[in-house]
Amino acid sequence: MNDTYISPQIKYIGVDDKDIDLFESQYKVPNGVTYNSYVILDEKTAVLDTVDMRRCDQWLANLGKALDGRQPDYLVVHHLEPDHAGSIAVFAERYPETVIVLSNKAAGMIGQFFDNIVPARLKPVSEGETLALGKHVLTFVMAPMVHWPEVMVSYESTEKILFSADGFGKFGAMDADEPWDDESRRYFINIVGKYGAQVQALLKKAATLDIKTIAPLHGPILKENLGHYIEKYDIWSSYRPEEEGVLVAFASIHGNTAKTARYIADELRSKGVTVAVSDLARDDMHKAVADAFRFDMMILAASSYDAGVFPPMEKFLNHLRAKNFQNRKVAIVENGSWAPSAGRTMRAALEGMKNITICENSVTIRSSMKECDKTAINAMIEELIGTK
Ligand SMILES: Cc1cc2nc3c(=O)[nH]c(=O)nc-3n(C[C@H](O)[C@H](O)[C@H](O)COP(=O)(O)O)c2cc1C
Ligand SMILES: [Fe+2]
Ligand SMILES: [Fe+2]
Repeated sequence: MNDTYISPQIKYIGVDDKDIDLFESQYKVPNGVTYNSYVILDEKTAVLDTVDMRRCDQWLANLGKALDGRQPDYLVVHHLEPDHAGSIAVFAERYPETVIVLSNKAAGMIGQFFDNIVPARLKPVSEGETLALGKHVLTFVMAPMVHWPEVMVSYESTEKILFSADGFGKFGAMDADEPWDDESRRYFINIVGKYGAQVQALLKKAATLDIKTIAPLHGPILKENLGHYIEKYDIWSSYRPEEEGVLVAFASIHGNTAKTARYIADELRSKGVTVAVSDLARDDMHKAVADAFRFDMMILAASSYDAGVFPPMEKFLNHLRAKNFQNRKVAIVENGSWAPSAGRTMRAALEGMKNITICENSVTIRSSMKECDKTAINAMIEELIGTK
């Protein structure tokens, strides 16, 4: 269980969601997800973000317990997406005196989601503006497009906490026992990956702050080794590979391309190369996207299909393009029984991406891999991994 204790005056009141089928209707979350929320209890009280309506009742109970009879003076809304802002309408009915603090952009958008929030209740804030609660003071920092345009983060200067909104979030409930890097990478690349430049801008602003704790809206509260998490965010948001290795991603109709891809993966492993393999028709597509970003090299292997490429590969390449995939070395393996077309289709998709080096040695399999195909496969591997 991740430790959610912050301090006597700042309490975690977030909730786990372990029975959601798909997060944002597309991401598998086998270990659930959290909607984090916090309360600062000082001379004034501030609630930081609500939660998804799916867990509103439990959150209100957590909130009531933390407030212990006090009224919330402020509700700070860092992000209007319904996984965090979904319970605002219910909260606003229950606590009619609470002032809602949000970015100027969010103030313009909140009415789209709720019809019971009158403008008089809103306190829009700008870059650098502060909210004094007593000993605790929040400073607001705008973070547009980390993940939506209205996003802001806040810095509490007494306890040196960065409330980072979706930034530094992770899939998995609080008791999920899994490496932060893997589920945070899958979360970041797929959800925020397109907005690397905006994340870089936020990291630059954050670098000027003395941060002891990062309190995100999903996943564990980060209290130690902050340099590790910040370094990962710097790598991911600048589209640099995280480590040397190859993702072998394949899309195979009848299994022959799969067999070839697995043979290639074994060859790579025998040369000491770190390899991840993804069956794009069956495995988690978003994990494959995250692995494509993780490694510096990728091999795409696919069946030809209706003068194009088998659709799971097409879908994968669309995801990569949408997330601004770039700066990687890629090799292509196609399979076709009469007029192979997968190779040129994959190549055309890759050519639309920035700084992708495509190996000249590609491989064409005719229906099933033969002994004689191994020469071309070896040449492709040699070119891809060089002298490693
Ligand atoms: C619906 C469908 C469309 C296909 N279209 C093509 C094609 O346009 N060109 C081609 O050479 N092979 C085509 N094929 C054949 C497959 O690409 C080929 O048999 C396959 O690559 C074998 O590898 P696999 O066992 O991994 O699926 C098609 C197969 C199917 C089922
Ligand atoms: Fe979000
Ligand atoms: Fe979120």
